Amino acid sequence: MRSARFMSIVGPRPARHSWLGLALGRADVRSLNMDRILIRGGNRLNGRIPISGAKNSALTLLPCALLTDEPLTLRNLPRLADVDSFGHLLNQLGCSTMIEGARPEDFGRVMTLRAGKVTATMAPYDIVRKMRASILVLGPLLARAGEATVSLPGGCAIGNRPIDLHLKALEAFGAEIETTAGYVTARAKNGRLPGGTIVFPVVSVGATENALMAAVRAKGTCILENAAREPEIVDLCRLLVAMGAHIEGIGTEKLVVEGVERLHGATYAVMPDRIEAGSYACAVGLAGGKVDLDGACADDMHATLAALREAGVEVTERQGGITVASDGKLNPLTLSTAPFPGFATDMQAQFMAMLLRANGASVLTETIFENRYMHVPELARMGADIQVKGRTAVVRGVQRLVGAPVMATDLRASMSLIIAGLVAEGETQVARVYHLDRGYERLEEKFAAVGADVERVSDG
Ligand code: EPZ
Repeated sequence: MRSARFMSIVGPRPARHSWLGLALGRADVRSLNMDRILIRGGNRLNGRIPISGAKNSALTLLPCALLTDEPLTLRNLPRLADVDSFGHLLNQLGCSTMIEGARPEDFGRVMTLRAGKVTATMAPYDIVRKMRASILVLGPLLARAGEATVSLPGGCAIGNRPIDLHLKALEAFGAEIETTAGYVTARAKNGRLPGGTIVFPVVSVGATENALMAAVRAKGTCILENAAREPEIVDLCRLLVAMGAHIEGIGTEKLVVEGVERLHGATYAVMPDRIEAGSYACAVGLAGGKVDLDGACADDMHATLAALREAGVEVTERQGGITVASDGKLNPLTLSTAPFPGFATDMQAQFMAMLLRANGASVLTETIFENRYMHVPELARMGADIQVKGRTAVVRGVQRLVGAPVMATDLRASMSLIIAGLVAEGETQVARVYHLDRGYERLEEKFAAVGADVERVSDG
C-alpha cells in the first residue's frame, strides 16, 4: 500500500491544521472559500464523464472502520469535502487514516483506515452541525465500545431531519438511550446489545444504516422491518458481510442480522454514484448532445432512467456505463419522490431544471422532505415558470431562460442551478458552491470536458 507520491498518513487526533493540510488537497481547500461557478449557456454536451464513487455510500462505509481493530481499505472513494470531514471525525475517535491518493488527474482515492483502539466515543456538535452524516458513528461506536455520544444534528436546509428513528432502532435492539443538553448517549449493558426487532414506521436510510452497524456485533439477532432498500444500503451490507457479518435479506425491506463477536478488516470498492450519474444525465437532457456516463450502474437507477426516457431522452445501458442523448426537446412529466426503488428525492431538483423548457406543464411532488424547493426562487430569477403549493411544484415549460446571479442553498439545488445555466442566455453565476463540493467531485472539470462553458472563480 505504498505509493511513491501523494500518500499521507494521518494518525488519531492530529492537530486540526495537520489533518486539513494533509488530507485536503488544493481542490478541497477551495471549497472552504466562497467560490462561484460561472456558466455561459448555449453549448451542447458531447463526450465522456467518469462517474465517481457514491457520496452517500462512502459516508456509511467509512464508519465501518470503527467495527474492527483491523485495517479497512476503501477504494473508489470520491474526492469530496464530506469524505474529508468524515476522515477528520474518525481521527478524533482514534481511527488512523492513510490516503493513497491517485494522481491529481485521477478520480477516486484509496483510503486505509484502522481503529486499533477507540480512544473517544463522542461526535461533538461543531462537527455534527456541519455534516449531519456524522451521526452514522452512533451505531458502530455502540457496537465496538458499548457506548456512544453524538450531538443531535439539528435541522438543515431541506428539513428538520430528526433522528428519532435511529434511536428507536437502537432501543429496540436493547440499548439504553439518554438525551441531555443537545447530545444523545446510547449504551449497551454489559457492552453488547442483546438484539431485538425494529419495525420502522417510516423508511429511513440513515436509521437503517445506524441500526445495521449496531446490529452486526450484537449478542443476539436483530431484525429490521420496513428497512430502506437504497443501493447504498446494499453496498453497506456487502461491506459488512465482507468484514464477517451475518446478514440475510440484503436488498429487501426485511433484514435479519445474526450478531457476531468480532469483525475483521476488508478491502472494498465504493459503488458508483447513481445521483451524480442522474444529475449529468439531466444536464444532457436539457442542453442536448450525447454523453457516455462511464461507470454508471443502470441497476441502481431504474426509476431515474425510466423518467429520462419518458421525457424523451435516449438512454442506452451498456457494458461499463450508460449513454444518454437528447435534442433538448423534452416532454413534460408527472413525478413523485419515494424511497427506493421509487423516484429518488435526490433527483427532484435536477429533473425540475431539466423540465424548465419542456413542451408543457410538469408536476413534481416531494414526499420525503418538507422543504426541498429552495432552488425554485433561484430558478425563477432565470425566467423559470414554477408554482409551488405545499409539496407539489408545477413547472410550465418556457421558451427562454436568462443567465443571472443565483445562490446555492443545498447540494442538489446547486446542481439544478448549474443545469439551468447550461441553456440560459448569457452568464449565470452560482454562489456558495461549497454546497456543490460536498457531493460532486470536480464538477466544473467534468462539465468542461464535454463542452460546457463552465468556470470556477475563487473569491479568495
Ligand atoms: C439520506 O439522508 C441521504 N443522505 C439523503 O441524501 C437522501 O435524500 C435521503 O437519505 C433519502 O434518500 C446520506 O445518505 C448521507 P432519511 P437521511 O433518514 O438518511 C425522516 C443528498 O442530497 N426521518 O431516509 O437523513 C426525515 O426527516 C442527501 O445526497 C425521521 O423522521 O434520510 C425524512 O423526512 C440529502 N426520523 C425521511 O425520514 C429519523 O430518525 C427520510 O429521511 C430519520 C429520518
